[in-house]
Amino acid sequence: MKKKWLFVLMAGMMLTTAACNNGGSSSTGGESKGSEAASGSTPQVGVAIYKFDDTFMTGVRNAMSDAADGVAKLDIVDSQNAQPTQNEKIDLFISKKYSSMIINPVDRTAAGVIIDKAKTANTPVVFLNREPIAEDMNKWDKVYYVGAKAEESGTISGQLIVDYWKANPKADKNGDGKLQYVLLQGEPGHQDAELRTKFSVQAIQDAGIEVEALAVDTAMWDRVKGQEKMQAFLASHGDKIEAVLANNDDMALGAIEALKAAGYFSGDKYMPVVGVDATAPAIQALEDGTLLGTVLNDAKSQGKASVAIAAALSKGETPNKDNTGFDITDGKYVWIAYKKITKDNIADAK
Ligand code: GAL
Ligand code: CA
Repeated sequence: MKKKWLFVLMAGMMLTTAACNNGGSSSTGGESKGSEAASGSTPQVGVAIYKFDDTFMTGVRNAMSDAADGVAKLDIVDSQNAQPTQNEKIDLFISKKYSSMIINPVDRTAAGVIIDKAKTANTPVVFLNREPIAEDMNKWDKVYYVGAKAEESGTISGQLIVDYWKANPKADKNGDGKLQYVLLQGEPGHQDAELRTKFSVQAIQDAGIEVEALAVDTAMWDRVKGQEKMQAFLASHGDKIEAVLANNDDMALGAIEALKAAGYFSGDKYMPVVGVDATAPAIQALEDGTLLGTVLNDAKSQGKASVAIAAALSKGETPNKDNTGFDITDGKYVWIAYKKITKDNIADAK
């Protein structure tokens, strides 16, 4: 009888704890990291996203919330694309004594300052999607990075164009044996923008195709800017353009809008356009036959890995395959693989 009551009491306590943990982003800030670890309660993790208004990062954000269920209590905030705002959010996480942080930096060169703060407060930090330079990563052993190898996505997007070029002799519209392309770049300084640009063109050249860049410009990962830049490219180069390479899907989709307005994708007027991310609207465009191909940037795994590493660090553990489910490279990196997506394997991206 006694045992039964004890069980009921404990179940009640667990329910209360769960209810508290689901109670939004408020925090008492009272408990210390040590007591959380010792009591085994759900750790509080501060998450700062560079800006909420980003299609891919919204996917990662949702994946983190899903993965946190029963593992960690996340306080996810919008840095509104301003590093000073993000720094204030980080100060707040630290003053609330959260047991770890997941940071998607606005400016990846700001990581050094963030790490200094985190180290002083002994609050472990997991960086995400915007890779700090190695020198900063080596400042402290409780610093991790979750991301994907940018060069891999560049190579795959270049290969998508190669496949198209080889299968379609008419792809060389002016018959000069060279591929005339335009390229929409992500944010300058972002490893994904720099390396996707470099390696996509490299992959085309490595396949033995001569290239000519008609125009290369940044559209800041943004769909509307992608459309505007593509309009400008069409105005100055028109039918000379034989392919459009975009560093992400949002810009590719913007370019497709501009191309549609210029009469493409109707009758026999076609343009190969490639992106990166495999977002839901991009998959739709693959199905519609406007987007030629994209590269899966695995938001689900990136969100899951970030939460798993933060949870292990919160408990005072050293993250490893056993306690996170992910391989850790060089003691601090989790690399999530990219994947080529065309209309033939859409299911792999869903
Ligand atoms: C990239 C992604 C872009 C954008 C960017 C934000 O990995 O492909 O769409 O979300 O991250 O840092
Ligand atoms: Ca040509």
